[in-house]
Order: sequence, then structure tokens, then C-alpha cells
Amino acid sequence: MIDLNGKVAAVTGAAGGIGAEVARALAMAGARVVLGDVQAERGEQVAQQIRDAGGQAKFVVHDTSNEDQWIAFINAALDNFGGLDILVNNAGIEQTCFLENITVADIQKLLSVNVTGVLIGHKHAVRAMKPGGRAGKGGSIINLSSVAGLIGTPGLGVYSASKGAVRLLTKAAAVEFGRLGYGIRVNSIHPGLVETEMGEKLLNDFVSLGMFKDRDDAYTQMKAAHPLGITGLPSDIANLALFLASDLSRWMSGAELVADGAMTVS
Ligand SMILES: NC(=O)c1ccc[n+]([C@@H]2O[C@H](COP(=O)([O-])OP(=O)(O)OC[C@H]3O[C@@H](n4cnc5c(N)ncnc54)[C@H](O)[C@@H]3O)[C@@H](O)[C@H]2O)c1
Repeated sequence: MIDLNGKVAAVTGAAGGIGAEVARALAMAGARVVLGDVQAERGEQVAQQIRDAGGQAKFVVHDTSNEDQWIAFINAALDNFGGLDILVNNAGIEQTCFLENITVADIQKLLSVNVTGVLIGHKHAVRAMKPGGRAGKGGSIINLSSVAGLIGTPGLGVYSASKGAVRLLTKAAAVEFGRLGYGIRVNSIHPGLVETEMGEKLLNDFVSLGMFKDRDDAYTQMKAAHPLGITGLPSDIANLALFLASDLSRWMSGAELVADGAMTVS
């Protein structure tokens, strides 16, 4: 069993999908968890479910594209739970469009969450986690990239650019924090298609682009693109986050963990 007793975690985009499952898993392993999301009601519900199950959790309204809200989010962990050992940069948005039709506004909107938000998160987490910071014990930063950060997919140019950026930000941060002696590990997770609202939106968006006949055709063909023949569940990703959050992965930093039913190796 992975034991996170005594650790404090912060999870972005924790009101639903993968983020909610990660928050639950970390809390059930003993971590005290701050959940952030732009969706207040749903975020509060997830935090309450965790408390009802005996865990410790606090929800904070947090838009990851806003630096002031990042400061408040990190302070919520420090003030409520007395530290910060784990940050999961999970919040992300998806956008599907052929490159010939993209707009500057859409590009900026996506990058502000998927890239700028993750960068600013590193800034404020590291200030707290590094030696001399308010938490000061080092820790683990876990970044949600995607198989779209590893291979190309039609219609996902902007999203892929953002997830490729997260992949290499992870490696740059791993080397920087390692060399600076901060004791902070940084790793990325790369899921294939996971059954969440975003996963469902992706299927429908592919249909709108004319890539599949209808939603069921998209699902069948996307499933078949994963050689194991199944799509992922949020718990498949939460289990990886648990491992990366724990001391079992103490020698891993800058790594990319792929969970995609062998999609990217076939
Ligand atoms: N579902 C998939 O197939 C899949 C595959 C690969 C990678 N991912 C990545 O995993 C992460 C989670 O995906 P998901 O499928 O759970 O998505 P989701 O859309 O189901 O949930 C995302 C959550 O993030 C929140 N969010 C959106 N913008 C935010 C912002 N600016 N600040 C704070 N919270 C915000 C949403 O309110 C929502 O609760 C994302 O980074 C996504 O890109 C998902």
C-alpha cells in the first residue's frame, strides 16, 4: 500500500474527471489535499465526498491561468494543512480544429491554461517547497501531459503543442530543481483516451471535424487505436499519480509515464 500520511497535496482541475480521482486517491492514501477548480459547486462536492470517506480535503476556487489565484491556492495548502509536498498540475482544456482554421484567441485561451498555468504553478509551488520555503521539504510535481504530447493527431495541433510543451517543461524543471538541490522531483503522465467529460468531448469534436461517422464510430475506432482494446479510466491515471507522489518513485525525475494501452508503441 502507498502511504502518504503526513504529506500535503494540491491538485488542480479537481472538480471532475482525472483530477477528482487523483484527489480522492491521494486523500485515501493519507495525504491532506487541497483541490482547486473553476467549478466551485462540483469542487466542493468532491472535497465533501473525500471528507465523508474519512479523508482531509479543502476546496478552493482556482483558475490556473490567474497568477493571484495560484498564490491563494498554494497558500491554502500552507495555511490549512501546514505544508506542500505534492502538486498535481492536472487542469487542462481541449480544443479540436484543423490548423488552417485556428484563431489567435483560441490559441491564447488554450495555452493560458495548458501551458502558462502549469508554468506559473511551478513558480509558486517551488517557492514553497524548496529549502527555506514555507513548506521547505522538497517534494513531487506531477504534470498531466498526454499521448498528444508524444505523437501527432489530426485536429489536435494546438492541444498537442501545449502537451508537448508540458512534456519538455517537466524535463527542464526536473534538471533545474535537481541541480539547485531543491529535492523536488518533476514527472509527466501521458494518458491515451480516458473516459471523462474531456474524453467524450474529444470524440464528438472528431465527429464534427468529419473524421468519424458518429460518436459511436469514433469511440469504436479510438478504442481500436489502443492495442489493449480498452480506453482508460480516471483511476488508471490516479494510480500513476499515487506512485509519483510517493517515496517509491524517489529516484525518478524528468520521466514520462505513458498509460495508453500501447497506443504510442504500435
Ligand atoms: N480525458 C482524456 O482522454 C485525456 C487524455 C490525455 C490527457 N488528458 C489530460 O488530463 C487532464 C485532465 O483531463 P480530464 O479528462 O479529467 O478533463 P475534464 O475536462 O474531464 O476535467 C478537467 C477539469 O479541469 C477544470 N478546469 C478547466 N480549466 C481550468 C482552469 N483554468 N483552472 C482550473 N481548473 C480548470 C475543469 O473545470 C474540470 O473540472 C487534462 O490536462 C487533460 O488534457 C486527458
